[in-house]
Amino acid sequence: MRKKIIAGNWKMNKTPSEAKALVAEMIDKVANAACDVVVCPTAICIPGVLDAVQGSNIKVGAQNVHFKESGAYTGELAGNMLKEIGVDYVIIGHSERRQYFGETDETVNLRTKAAIAAGVTPIVCVGESLLEREQGITAETVCRQTKVAFLEISADDAKNVVIAYEPVWAIGTGKTATADQADEVCGIIRDTIKDLYGAEVADAIRIQYGGSMNAANAEELLAKPNIDGGLIGGASLKAEDFSVIVAAAK
Ligand code: 13P
Repeated sequence: MRKKIIAGNWKMNKTPSEAKALVAEMIDKVANAACDVVVCPTAICIPGVLDAVQGSNIKVGAQNVHFKESGAYTGELAGNMLKEIGVDYVIIGHSERRQYFGETDETVNLRTKAAIAAGVTPIVCVGESLLEREQGITAETVCRQTKVAFLEISADDAKNVVIAYEPVWAIGTGKTATADQADEVCGIIRDTIKDLYGAEVADAIRIQYGGSMNAANAEELLAKPNIDGGLIGGASLKAEDFSVIVAAAK
């Protein structure tokens, strides 16, 4: 049985004081969660949020990590920096990073390896655009993204990586993939992992769905056999909505 994992991707929202207040509001509401609970604030909010969640079941994730350990990479953050302050997860290859910041399948692979080397669990994002879905190349797209992301990663490490399936057309649009559509593609991703590593890793790896998941649709999505959690954008900025999603992840 895979333990479900609900992560909030706060994107570029909340100042440091607002971030602390938001997570403080969440602590009691998610205290009895049956799943892993993660919040991913902006980098500057992470120390305050880490302080606020001490002693609770909420873990903290970053929204990106660089692939080098240190050096002349202005504006970037290294895995050992995240690790040292207590960050447990990092989102890698989110479609917004691919779309606006030149992230490619190759840099996703490099960042995933860097996170693993630093001891931070990657949440690797894959997903097709609307054009790719309409062209009938959804499977091909997520298969390629997954295969490149896992290049040179051992089976032992792969098992602990979290994959987030986020169809680009469903992000922030209010258009959710139907539970069957989401489950189908998560199944394709799991089959891809099976091709790469065999059944044991494919059965162990956790695959989240992300894209307009909210308090009203979470239960149906999370009931699907191949969906092991959610990566939540907008609805993770409201403590009440986020806690309803967490409660649906049994
Ligand atoms: P929304 O939940 O706002 O659609 O965002 C999904 C997402 O991109 C999470 O990473």
